[in-house]
Amino acid sequence: MSFCVAIDGPAAAGKGTIARAVAARFGFAHLDSGLLYRAVGRRSLAGEDPVEAARTLDARELDDPALRTPEVAEAASRVAAMPQVRQALVDFQRAFARRAGGAVLDGRDIGTVICPEAEVKLFVTASDEVRARRRHAELRAQGREVSLAQVAADLRARDSRDAARAIAPLRRADDAVLLDTTAMSIEQALEQAIGHVRAAMCRSGCSGAGSDARG
Ligand code: C5P
Repeated sequence: MSFCVAIDGPAAAGKGTIARAVAARFGFAHLDSGLLYRAVGRRSLAGEDPVEAARTLDARELDDPALRTPEVAEAASRVAAMPQVRQALVDFQRAFARRAGGAVLDGRDIGTVICPEAEVKLFVTASDEVRARRRHAELRAQGREVSLAQVAADLRARDSRDAARAIAPLRRADDAVLLDTTAMSIEQALEQAIGHVRAAMCRSGCSGAGSDARG
């Protein structure tokens, strides 16, 4: 049986952390859909045509730590505005969302475009300042010297482009639960997310594979 958890939101809001924890807790597979766009963005930086890159993407590329840089994130956001790039990546994501045993996907358009019938939809956000601080700390931990102001400007530019594009813009689905993590610890955010998933599983009969009814 399939069971899809769709987690969307702006950059550095905590989607990835929540998605990984939900997947681990319920035994679901996890896809960070941003990595698909990052892999295409990375290839475009190397001179490849983005549409061709999207059509020939190999899932093994997604494990490359080089996808985690701000330069690749910026390139990802540019190629993600191209309709043919998005189209080339749809089937893979939809198949992933409906795999047996349950799936968690995080991104920008999972609840609106990729899996509009998802059993759970969360829109995870946080204030601009908190998101910039979190991303800044992550980059510092990777040994990157970058100012907080620069990180904040990069996030702002990327979010504006993602929200303004004509196709599959960053947007909260009408039926998505809003999770504002600005004033929450990671534990509190995870507890809320897991609570929403557990409630949805019970509504659908507590019968999903990997179901977890622990309190
Ligand atoms: O989530 P992450 O920051 O890795 O995403 C990188 C970029 O990929 C985003 O800024 C966005 O432009 C694009 N993206 C997208 N749709 C998704 C996931 C990511 O357009 N579902």
